Amino acid sequence: MDKNIAETLKKLEETGKQFWIISHETGEFLNRLIRKKNVKRVLEIGTSIGYSGIWIAEALSSTNGKLYTMESHNERFNKAKKHFQEAGLTKYITQFKGHAPDIEIPNMIDLLFLDATKIEYVSYIKTFLFHMKKGGIIIADNAISHREALKEYEKYIFNSPQLESRLVEIGSGLFISTVL
Ligand SMILES: C[S@@+](CC[C@H](N)C(=O)[O-])C[C@H]1O[C@@H](n2cnc3c(N)ncnc32)[C@H](O)[C@@H]1O
Repeated sequence: MDKNIAETLKKLEETGKQFWIISHETGEFLNRLIRKKNVKRVLEIGTSIGYSGIWIAEALSSTNGKLYTMESHNERFNKAKKHFQEAGLTKYITQFKGHAPDIEIPNMIDLLFLDATKIEYVSYIKTFLFHMKKGGIIIADNAISHREALKEYEKYIFNSPQLESRLVEIGSGLFISTVL
């Protein structure tokens, strides 16, 4: 991994815990998955300060892909911008400031990563599923740590005939769904 990227990730792991960043293990998992499946376009809801975005964009730099990432909080949006610059990954990232799912995205996506307001996950998936084809992957963080708050989401993904879903014990827990 490039030195600037590794150093930025390390700095955020040491100083960014209060911004609810994903675990190192989850970052590594997302990074490997993107490389393995040759994912090109990722949409993330909940940029925060950009930690997960750096893991994702690092993998997209090898698939020549693009990350679209949305953040509603002004200060965190700007911190993420700075961290993406420090990591040297801006070429692979488009940031959107605003409240999902109200933001329009320009393209179809291969992977949707949900890491924002738990009670809104159903509205995110309902909106952005229209931007996904068969074989697309949807990953929701906090499947174990916030299972109660994600009750409706869990019900939705396990009952949808359009999705095949499972719970994976990585980091705070991930719901991983494949579009059928
Ligand atoms: C758990 S943090 C994201 C952490 C980030 N994915 C990481 O690991 O580095 C959640 C972020 O989502 C943002 N957020 C919450 N609801 C949102 C929404 N509806 N649209 C955009 N951003 C949202 C919050 O402001 C917060 O910064």
